[in-house]
Amino acid sequence: MSYILAIDQGTTSSRAIVFDADMRPQGSAQEEFAQHFPRSGWVEHAPEDLWQTVLRSCEGALRAAGISAQALAGIGITNQRETTLLWDRATGEPLYNAIVWQDRRTSDACAALKEAGHEALIRAKTGLLLDPYFSGTKLAWLLDSVEGARARAEAGELAFGTVDSWLVWNLTGGRVHATDATNASRTLLYDIHAGEWNEEICALLGVPMSLLPEVKDCSALFGTTDVLGATVPILGIAGDQQAATIGQGCFSAGMMKATYGTGCFALLNTGRDAVASEHKLLTTVAYQLEGEVTYALEGSIFVAGAVVQWLRDGLGVIATAADTQALAESADCAQDVIIVPAFTGLGAPYWNPDCRGAAFGLTRATGPAEMARAALESVGYQTRDLLEAMQADWGDNAEAALRVDGGMCASDWTMQFLTDITGAQVDRPSILETTALGAAWLAGHAAGLYPDRAGFARMWQLDRSFMPQMSAAQRAQKYERWQRAVAAAQAV
Ligand code: G3P
Repeated sequence: MSYILAIDQGTTSSRAIVFDADMRPQGSAQEEFAQHFPRSGWVEHAPEDLWQTVLRSCEGALRAAGISAQALAGIGITNQRETTLLWDRATGEPLYNAIVWQDRRTSDACAALKEAGHEALIRAKTGLLLDPYFSGTKLAWLLDSVEGARARAEAGELAFGTVDSWLVWNLTGGRVHATDATNASRTLLYDIHAGEWNEEICALLGVPMSLLPEVKDCSALFGTTDVLGATVPILGIAGDQQAATIGQGCFSAGMMKATYGTGCFALLNTGRDAVASEHKLLTTVAYQLEGEVTYALEGSIFVAGAVVQWLRDGLGVIATAADTQALAESADCAQDVIIVPAFTGLGAPYWNPDCRGAAFGLTRATGPAEMARAALESVGYQTRDLLEAMQADWGDNAEAALRVDGGMCASDWTMQFLTDITGAQVDRPSILETTALGAAWLAGHAAGLYPDRAGFARMWQLDRSFMPQMSAAQRAQKYERWQRAVAAAQAV
């Protein structure tokens, strides 16, 4: 039993990777699933798709690694966060589709709660703010909108969960209803200081507390599963951005990572201090190990890699995501097109759910190359917004280097623009699969198979450091133009 199976249930696909005793990947499988957009701004996943694609990916990864479930010492789970599910405790039947983190349907409800003066309480207890991004108002919507849901919830018949809880429920055949502290910290219902569900907020949102899962450490026994052909313990859970923070070895206060997936999420480890942001960042649980919570400041951008998908699927100007860099490099230097990719509103530090995307500086000579360059640059500009806010909240305590991961990091051009526009050193590790690695470490650590935190952190290896080459004057001039573009997009 010297292997760990990491499950990474993401926004557009489910993946599973088998790691050996030396934490090297031995086999993996991945499956995409359907995205449902029933109305403008609504995004849903079928709960059964989430579960079945995970199950098939696990079976595929075991096959690819050439091992059976008997060889597994444990399973680690990491997942898209905030996405909200509600199911029947007796039958396991979901009452509705999963409402995805990107979904904006509770925008008005959030505005009303803000208007009524409730944001200070939410901020103080949960470290979050009133935005449809988080689970709480999505759950309230389900209770109010699905016929009979509220009465059944009040009778104790239903269970709420983020995706990790849903997977644990299914893996354990409905025996376990649990989550970890990182996922709990994204629900809007969890007091990150007291480490418990908050009664006052649950009452405010009309959420019966009987719906809520038990909250555990990230590295702990969550239950056992028999679905893979042997009894295997589930030993680790963390939300995907927190798992990436762990996988990047960001265990000391001041260390920072940014993951470029569908969106971009930058987390700065602030140690035992839950730093209250004055610049609209989130205060969140980075990880909870041995009952001790480590906090992070988080900047969440909703569209990063998704802007490249838009070039491919929306505009049809590239065939594959990998074409973007070459196209961007061929762009006319005399044109300075800016795209503000607010396709689903703006996240940190603007938090404007109603803003939509905009492009500036278009001329008749603007073509696919200029659009591609502007799309990639938008990721750098948005990261700078986050780093500015982190700097303002936490002064010079943050380390100079930003550790990056996720698909977009493979593009040297994008990483060079990132370092140029932020002025920060950008460090790309040799392993870009940091999310799954973080989940594997949590489980392998609990199984006694993997090294402790310090030993794991020492295994981090640099692929390449990117250093700024742009002049300070040009950086300032370009960033100022970006800020004007964001202001204009919000004014429309
Ligand atoms: O908060 C949302 C985040 O967890 C989604 O991550 O990688 O599935 O886009 P990803």
